[in-house]
Amino acid sequence: MTRDELVRTLIPDRVRQGAAYQVPDATGMIKLDAMENPYTLPKPMRDELAHRLADCAMNRYPDPHAMAICAPLRRWMGIPDTLDLLFGNGSDEIIGLLISNLIGTGRSVCAPDPSFVMFEVLADQYAVPFRALPLDSEFDIDSDGWMDSLVEADPALIFIPQPNNPTGNLFSKDRLAKIVESTQALIVIDEAYTAFTDADYLDWAIRYPNVVVMRTLSKVGLAGSRFGMLIGHPDWIVEFDKIRLPYNINVLTQTVVQFALECAPTLEEQTGKIRQERRRLTTLLEERGFSVWPSEANFVVVDCKMHSARSLFEGLKQYQILVKCLDGSHPRLANTLRLTVGAPEESNALFGALDQLVSS
Ligand SMILES: Cc1ncc(COP(=O)(O)O)c(C=O)c1O
Repeated sequence: MTRDELVRTLIPDRVRQGAAYQVPDATGMIKLDAMENPYTLPKPMRDELAHRLADCAMNRYPDPHAMAICAPLRRWMGIPDTLDLLFGNGSDEIIGLLISNLIGTGRSVCAPDPSFVMFEVLADQYAVPFRALPLDSEFDIDSDGWMDSLVEADPALIFIPQPNNPTGNLFSKDRLAKIVESTQALIVIDEAYTAFTDADYLDWAIRYPNVVVMRTLSKVGLAGSRFGMLIGHPDWIVEFDKIRLPYNINVLTQTVVQFALECAPTLEEQTGKIRQERRRLTTLLEERGFSVWPSEANFVVVDCKMHSARSLFEGLKQYQILVKCLDGSHPRLANTLRLTVGAPEESNALFGALDQLVSS
């Protein structure tokens, strides 16, 4: 057989017909597209980190359980001893790991619609059935509709981003409780944006037998290090730990995370500034006639109203500003842009460009 024929024979159709995850080139641009923290650690801290990294035992495999991180992480996030931790190469890896557990079982995965695309992308990759649960007109949980869908789909796993991406809102607590209490599926409350909201569902992992919580350090300044975590009852974590790759958190990441936890006050100061900037960004957008959806995350969704989201997106690129155009990604996101909350000077550049674009 030729290589071409071999590829066609050996790679499943669903993979060959799919596409790799696309990340736009952001070289030299103001990045307001990926919900990153715009701030770095101050120079003296980075110098200290460089020393620590220089001393890393790169010739050795990392500690498979990254034990040095556990205690400071528990302290910072207030994680009680009754819950265990599992770490991932970003929470994306944990999402994949949870879904891969269902391969061959015929059980499905559910997630709100619209929400974080990786739930469906990874379900497709593992050929695990995926069922979207449409949100109501306020982008909240549609309790009755969901109950019917859940009976039909009989999922083993339900992801609930709280707050949701890309809509930015928190789902109502009572509606979420109703779903948790009415299903036998494992519910993963994905608190990727926990640093930007006062909501905290950690205690649900204790209260409910079918809830675990997922978090990430990506949004507080460590997107480049790739570090996510699953927090849950030991009965859950011990099982998922069996399907985790043994050395999934490399020594460099372990060192960076340990150091970042020592710098927690600085990270908190930065996330505090982002929360403030979210208010200013919202006000400035509304003053210009845009409609901004309420957000508890480090991004806002903007309904461009009389302007075209796609033209603004393209126009902003000419000013070296990269945002996320949601138009076309979902019928309910038509003519919207998702703007990551950046530093004040980045917002100022954004408004400088927007003002030019809407007046031309
Ligand atoms: C809701 C949600 N969960 C998880 C992730 C993935 O985070 P990580 O960088 O830890 O893989 C994201 C990233 O945007 C997200 O929006």
